[in-house]
Order: sequence, then structure tokens, then C-alpha cells
Amino acid sequence: MISKKTVDEILLVSKIEEVVGDFVSLKKRGQNWVGPCPFHDDKNPSMYVSPRLGIFKCFVCEAGGNAVHFLMEHEKIPYPEALRYLAKKYNIAIEEEVGKTPEQIQAADLRESMFILNGYVEKYFTGQLFDTGEGRAVGLSYFKERGYSEATIQKFRLGYNPENWDTFTQEALKNAYSKELLLKLGLTKESENGKLYDFYRGRVIFPIHNTMGKVVGFGGRTLKKDAKIAKYFNSPESEIYHKSDVLYGFYFAKKSIRTLDNVYLVEGYTDVISLSQAGVENVVASSGTALTERQVKLISSQTANITVLYDGDAAGIKASVRGIDMLLSAGMNVKVVLLPEGEDPDSFARSRSNKELLDYLTNEATDFLLFKVKVMSKEAGNDPVKRAEMVTEMIRSVAEVANPIAQAFYIKECAEIFDLPEETLNIQLRKEMWKKKRQGDKVDMPNVINPKTVTPKPEILKINPLEVIEEKIIILILKYGLYEINVEMKDENGEAVFVKKRIDQHVFDEFHEEEIAFSNAMLQIIYEEYAEIATSSNDQDEIRKHFALHESKEISTFIADHLLKKDPAYSDEWEHRFDITTNTLMNNAQKLNSEVEQNINWFKYRILDNHRKFLLFELSQNPPEEITKLIAQKLTQLLPRRKEIADILGSVTTG
Ligand code: CTP
Ligand code: MN
Repeated sequence: MISKKTVDEILLVSKIEEVVGDFVSLKKRGQNWVGPCPFHDDKNPSMYVSPRLGIFKCFVCEAGGNAVHFLMEHEKIPYPEALRYLAKKYNIAIEEEVGKTPEQIQAADLRESMFILNGYVEKYFTGQLFDTGEGRAVGLSYFKERGYSEATIQKFRLGYNPENWDTFTQEALKNAYSKELLLKLGLTKESENGKLYDFYRGRVIFPIHNTMGKVVGFGGRTLKKDAKIAKYFNSPESEIYHKSDVLYGFYFAKKSIRTLDNVYLVEGYTDVISLSQAGVENVVASSGTALTERQVKLISSQTANITVLYDGDAAGIKASVRGIDMLLSAGMNVKVVLLPEGEDPDSFARSRSNKELLDYLTNEATDFLLFKVKVMSKEAGNDPVKRAEMVTEMIRSVAEVANPIAQAFYIKECAEIFDLPEETLNIQLRKEMWKKKRQGDKVDMPNVINPKTVTPKPEILKINPLEVIEEKIIILILKYGLYEINVEMKDENGEAVFVKKRIDQHVFDEFHEEEIAFSNAMLQIIYEEYAEIATSSNDQDEIRKHFALHESKEISTFIADHLLKKDPAYSDEWEHRFDITTNTLMNNAQKLNSEVEQNINWFKYRILDNHRKFLLFELSQNPPEEITKLIAQKLTQLLPRRKEIADILGSVTTG
């Protein structure tokens, strides 16, 4: 057990901003530091780090604590391991205390012994590579042939396991490492007759490091050309190695990712190493599989920008799409670089000069979704069924995009490429987002200010004023949609005339003209279904019943909550005897008239105003030039319109 004195010293010496800063990109703000919180899906910096108090605190998910807590939580490591990490970081000698129970020793020590063994093995393999005749003649010359410099080989701590049956295993056993541990870590295998042999014998070694630089596993590449032999052997899962949590190269790339605020994602060991040697050090590999959530978290803790490198075949692109959607929903900007036919990042980096490589990476980087939509559109050709499928698939990806402005931009591009009205795609997008929402994902609806950019408190989201008005409008049409009101219109001479119009029709016309959709996806669905039913039904009760008995529980609950309650403003009697003119009923009719108009105008105003705020916010983030232009263009259209409606509302409320 680590002594109390050592623990105190560790806590005293550790600088919280340095510890957190090793994993999260922090910016100084006053006396504190802020950065994206790694403990929840954070798109905006909501984690504060206070050097004065020695603590971190997230204001959204409430995670918080000192440097040790941060490491335990972030790295999923036990307390003593976090302390040991800090002791190493700050060069503090650990004073051990006796008095541990055997179970404690076992649990804490298993992981620790695994790390110790792996550390020893890494040293052993690099020693073999550089310091033995066989290692130099076979392993080192192979790496040199691949074009790796000694500096690169040392940086990635590459090594060699001798060809002989059990050279490594015997050496490890001689050094008092246990057979059980060797087997557990997959370094040694046991044959049927009980003989131990080296798993990686005759292979060059790529050690795999965790975010703290400790060895969690190894990859071993054969040097034989025989196609029957697996090219790579990899460590099995263990207490310290979870393949899906690890990004190869991350430990070495971290600093550069943060400085350059971008990361390159490639497939394997050799891609990472060759790019790194060619000067592109901000590179990591997902090791063959599709990205996992944990990997996405690791990446997004360092930067919001990722560039995925693809070999020039379509199969690869398709396979990785799922992982990419995860990057999008983490709020990352995803770009793609397609390599020339037959090249992978490794071969490409080796066959080009530094400048050629960097130029290619810069010039060829395309926005991922635009890239995908182009690839898909080309693939679908003129087949309408295929095209429809691809549009759906695209919309699904766009629904993952966190930023509404970016969504609008993609919808516009998709509409153009697939030659469909933007409105159709927007409706599909809302449905998709609604589905996601029902699946329990938190998503930010378009047309609404990204709530997290304003205030992350959930209670406030509930009383989003836009949604309140949207609800009112939906309730209005569900209750009174088939009734008529007097609507002011202009005749050909510009004179105001009043025409009778059904309330639902009036809402549809207004919405259509302004190209408005509901920000709340459920309401949008009700609205669309209502539009369908109302063309064939003239029974308000029947329409309401449709929604009250709706297959979606969310919708039927909404109806129960809002339409079963008595509305004090309008009596049932009035509803049933609408055509009878009496004074009281006339009052009701007038009230309804102005309520419809006012709600529609408030709705328009809220939308325009939310848009305005959002656009201004986006503008303050120094977006790229083309986005700035897009925003400015939108603002010039929006501001006069907003004023116009504000004036109408002003005259209603004041006069
Ligand atoms: N890879 C793997 N397991 C395999 C094949 C490949 O893990 N059976 C990963 C490795 O990380 C490797 C990357 O995919 O770095 C690229 O694969 P490949 O080009 O086949 O491996 P190289 O070692 O680069 O082989 P070559 O010299 O033929 O290019
Ligand atoms: Mn290769």
C-alpha cells in the first residue's frame, strides 16, 4: 500500500491543470481553465479546472474531483494506479506501507504485474532487435527495408522476437515472471504436450500503448511471404487490454493532435508509423475495426477535427461509415482524403516527399458527407429505388450532425445532388431525428438554438418558448382546425379584404409560404398526419380520435394531456353550436380569430429570432469564409422580416 505521506505529497505536487491537460484540450479563462468534458457528450467546453483549488468540475454532468479522481474516472483505473501514475509524472518516490490484505494485493497487483511484465517484454523485444545478430539481420533489416529510420523505430519502440521455439519464454521465466501471467497476456502459448513456446516467434513487434504510454499489448508481423500464415498476431483481451478502447499511436500523437487541432485516422500500425516518420505526427489507427464510442471520445477530447484517410476502394469507405456517423454525432468535423488507386497511407507516405504528402493531404481533404453523397449518388445512377435508399441513408447521417447550420448546408447540397426539394429532405430529417430521440439519444432539433450553446440546464429546455407556441398551434388545429375564421387578405388593388378560411388551411398556407416546419419533431409528425387526414375528413372528433389512439405513445399521451382537459376559453357548447349567432358566441369567434393570428405570428417571430441568435452565435465563432457568407446572406433576409412581424405583434399587444 502507498503510504499516507506519499499520497499527501502526490496530491500536493500534482498540478490539476497539467494532469487534466494531458487528456483534454484546455484553454485559460481568467484564473481557471476550461475544456470539453470527457465524461459526457460535450460539444461545448463545460468543464472547469481550478488550479487554485486543485479540482476539476463539469457544470453539465457534475463530474468533479481532484487529479486522482480525474485519472481514475478518465482512465478507468483503480486508486493506487492513479497515484502511481502521478508519482511517476512528478518524480515522487513511492513509500510502500505493509498491511494489505491478500485479496487487495492480488486485485491491485494483477494489473500492475501485467504492466510490469509488458514493460519488461517491450524492453526485451527492442533489445533483441538492436543488440542481437539475429535481431539486426532479420528484424532491423526488415524495418530498414520498409524505410523506417532508427529514430522512428525507437519512437514506436518496435522490436523482434527470436525465431527459436521458446527463447523469449525461457528468458522471462528465468527473470521470475510467472507462466500464468505469460499465458494470460498471450505472450507464451502452451502446446498440447505441455511445452511452452513464444507466440510471436520470428516476428517483428509493434507494442500497443494506452493513453498513459504503458504497454497494454503487442502486434507481431510475420516476415514470411507465405499467404497461409496470418500476417499479424495480436494480444488477446485482458484486464489491461480492451482492443476497442485503444487507438494505436494515440500516446505518441496526442501532443501534435492538440497543437495542430486535427487528427488523421488510418487503418493500421504501418500507416501510423510511415505517416509519423514523414512528418505527419498527428495520426492514430483504429486497428482494423470500426471505431468505437470510447475511441471517438479519446479523439474528441483532443480536437474537433478529424481527417480519415481511405485507400482508393469503395468497400473500405462503406465499412467505415458507421464509425464515421459516431464522429459526426460527437460534433466533430469530419474530412476525407481518398488515396490514389492501389495505395494505402503507408505506401503513399513512403513514395512521396514530405511536401508532396502534406500538399496532397491538404488539397484533397473533402468534407465527409459531401464526399459520401457524391459517391452514393454516382453508385445509384438513375435507379429510383436505389436513389431513394441512398437519400434515406444520407439523411440518417445528416441527422447525426450536431450543428443545425451544418445540417442546413448538407440538406441544401443533398437536394441539389439528388435533385429533390429541400423541404422534402427537411421533413425526412425531422422524422429521422425524432426516431433517434425516441431511441433515447439526446439530439438538438434544427431551427432551435443549440440549447447547449445557451444554457445546458434541462429544466429550461422544457419550457422552450418556441415549443410552447408550436404546441398551441397544433392544439388549435386539432381542436378547431375545421372551423372558419376571417382572414385579412389584400385584393389586387392592395386593399384589405376579409375572407372566410378554415383555420387548418390558414395555418398550412402560412407555414408553407414561410417554409416553416416545427422544431419539435413529434409536433411536425402530427402536423403532417393531420394534413393528410383533414383533406378527407370533416369531423373534428374523428381527427382527434386518430391521434388519441395513435400507435406512438408520445403522441397519444400528448393528446391526453392537452385535449382531454377542458379549455376555459371556449365552451363545448360553443363548439357544437358554432353556426348559431349570439353575442357570447361572436365573442368567442373573434377571440379564436385573433388567437390563431397571434399564435402564428408569435411562432414566426420565435423562429426568426432563434435563427437570428443562432446565426450571430455562429458568426462569433469565426467560421470559414463560405459559412460566413452563408450566414450573412441569411441574416439580410431574416432581419427585415423579423421586424415586420415584431411590428404586427407590437400593435396587437399595445393596441
Ligand atoms: N492488419 C492487422 N491484421 C492483419 C492485416 C493487417 O492488424 N491480418 C493491420 C496492421 O495494423 C497493418 C495494417 O492493417 O499495419 C495494414 O495492413 P497491411 O498493409 O496488410 O500490412 P502491412 O504490414 O503494411 O503489409 P504490407 O507490407 O504487405 O503492406
Ligand atoms: Mn501495408
